[in-house]
Parts: sequence; structure tokens; C-alpha cells
Amino acid sequence: MAKGILERYGHLLELPAHTRPLTLLEGDTPLIPAPRLAETLGGGFTLWIKYEGLNPTGSFKDRGMAAAIGEAWGRGARVAICASTGNTAASAAAYAARAGMKAVVLIPQGKVAAGKLAGALAYGAQVVQVLGSFDDALRLVVEITQRRPLALVNSINPYRLEGQKTAAFEICDALGEAPDWLCLPVGNAGNITAYWMGFKQYDSLKGSGRPRLLGVQAAGAAPLVVGHPIEHPETVATAIRIGRPARGEQALQAAAESGGRIIAVSDEEILAMQRLLAQQEGIWVEPASAAGLAGLAAEIRAGRLDVRGQRVVAVCTGHGLKDPQIVTQQMPAPLQIPPHLEALEEILAA
Ligand code: F0G
Repeated sequence: MAKGILERYGHLLELPAHTRPLTLLEGDTPLIPAPRLAETLGGGFTLWIKYEGLNPTGSFKDRGMAAAIGEAWGRGARVAICASTGNTAASAAAYAARAGMKAVVLIPQGKVAAGKLAGALAYGAQVVQVLGSFDDALRLVVEITQRRPLALVNSINPYRLEGQKTAAFEICDALGEAPDWLCLPVGNAGNITAYWMGFKQYDSLKGSGRPRLLGVQAAGAAPLVVGHPIEHPETVATAIRIGRPARGEQALQAAAESGGRIIAVSDEEILAMQRLLAQQEGIWVEPASAAGLAGLAAEIRAGRLDVRGQRVVAVCTGHGLKDPQIVTQQMPAPLQIPPHLEALEEILAA
């Protein structure tokens, strides 16, 4: 029987006793070997994709929401609120629906991928478009929750991290130990912080070891690489279009403590990796989710990372279906033919 993260790992999570067992059977996502892609990146190492796009609402956020909304529900909160570049919104909306709560989600106007906006609406959230950035929306959420009894479910909420660290446990359980490197995209910086908490906890409990962390931002939204907030972040990877990461300090600390680092890659590198992963391994992820792998590729290519003989896990945080337009816009429209065999023959002969 499938189990959600609270049932599988609840005993390892620091959650209040009143937390209710909320679940959509999130987690237990596959760790998929990616041998062809590893070869393309230079070979000599083993690469797995932790495919978090296979969670119930299509992103890793479901782990954190099971915990954070389960906690809010258990203490009698009626309304959950968050700022979001899209995935957090869809996930909060779904888990709130399941708990019989209302969700209010603030999104940057015009900068949220179609599948995420549709998800938030479909699950019945009150969607508010902010004429500003994610960072503006998060500031509003922080300020309003100081005035009103709304449950804030962004990753400032510690229970979000408790839920999300279960992905680190799963990776160790699947491999028998931690990998040598973990690469993943960084936006608001909650996920890299949660992974590091999870790996450290498992290591102290089971001696599973710790990976080095390669956190990857988009070049137009890379506050942790340039060392100061970005007022107007821009990237095709709208999920990580964030200039003032709430958990930035912790993310930098986690990367440094692990012996790893946080780097940036261009939008072109992100889109090229999105294509490569889909076309060489059959794994379609949204642009932000290809950033971790794009960073790995860039570091190997530049000779800054020697992964020979090592085990590398790339976290692919969200499903490709979240943002179909980014693909259809870039590709030539499919050819059209009249319904005649000769026309089909002509195309196949070309
Ligand atoms: N990948 C995807 C697909 C995301 O949606 C996000 C964050 C990240 C990576 C980065 O994770 O913020 O913990 O560093 N999305 C948030 C949202 C901001 O609102 O959905 P992070």
C-alpha cells in the first residue's frame, strides 16, 4: 500500500502533536537512472534523476504541504495563504481542499506557467495576481499574517522544511547511502535547506553519509551568486524567478558546510538541458527543474567538478506539463498534411 510522507517518515519529523495526517500519497518518487545523459556530460559517473514532478500536483511542494497544512488543519486554522511562482500555489490549493480549508495564493501577474495557474484555480483557491514580483507577493503575505489569523505556508514555515526533507531520506533509502553530489535548482532556497537538514539527520541516525550540494540559480535571478538581492529578477525558469530568497542565508551555509556551492546558469543552458533530458532519457521537466542538471553540465565542462567514479543525484522538482508553452513556443509548429497516404509518404521521405 502506498503511504504518504507523514505515515512513512512522520516519526523523523519535528511536527507538533496536533498535526493531522493529511495526504494525497505524496513522496516515494522514483530515482531514475540516466545513463545516456551521464555519457553526454562526459561519462565515468552514475547519474540518477529524483523525479519530483511525479508528486500528486506535479511538484516537490506536496511534501511540504502535507506537513504544513496538516499542522495548520490540526490547530483549527481555516485559511492557508502563500506567495508563489506557481507550484506552491497549486500544492497549497490541493492540500487545503483536502483539509476542507480555504487557500489564498498570491502570484506575480503574468509570470506563472499555465499548468500551475490552472491547478490553483481547479483546486478552488482564491488566486490573487500581484502587479509585482514573487518577492513583493511574499512581503504582502508576511505582513498580512501579522495582522490576521491566516496560516502562512511558504517555506518560512518550518513545517514545510520538515516535510520536504523526506526526499533526502528517500534518496538514502534507495541508494543505501547518500550520493556524492546532489544538484538542484534554488529559488526561495527552502528546498536546498530542507535536503541538507534531511541528509544530516539521516547521517547522524544511520551513518548514511552526506552529499556535496550543487545549488543552481538562473543567471537573471541569482542573488545568492552575486551576493545581493535582485530587484527585477528575470528568467524563463519562472519557478525560480526570485530576487530575495527567504532562506538564502541557510542555503549558502548548507552549500558551504557540504563542501559544495551555489552557481548560476543562463536561460539558454537551462532550455538546452530541458531538451536533452527529455530527448535522451524520456524525462520531461519544467525549465527550473533542468537548472540543477544544467549547472552540473556547466561545472563538468569547465573542469571545475570531477565526478569520475562518483554517484550524482539531480533533483527534478516539477513536471514538464506545468509549462507546456515554453516548449511549443520554441519548436516549429508540426507539419500539416491532407489525409492522403502520398502526403505522409512525402514527409517521411524528406
Ligand atoms: N523548482 C521548482 C519547479 C519550483 O517551483 C521551485 C520553487 C524551485 C525549484 C525552487 O525551490 O524555492 O525551495 O528554492 N517554487 C516556489 C513556488 C517559489 O512558489 O512554487 P526553492
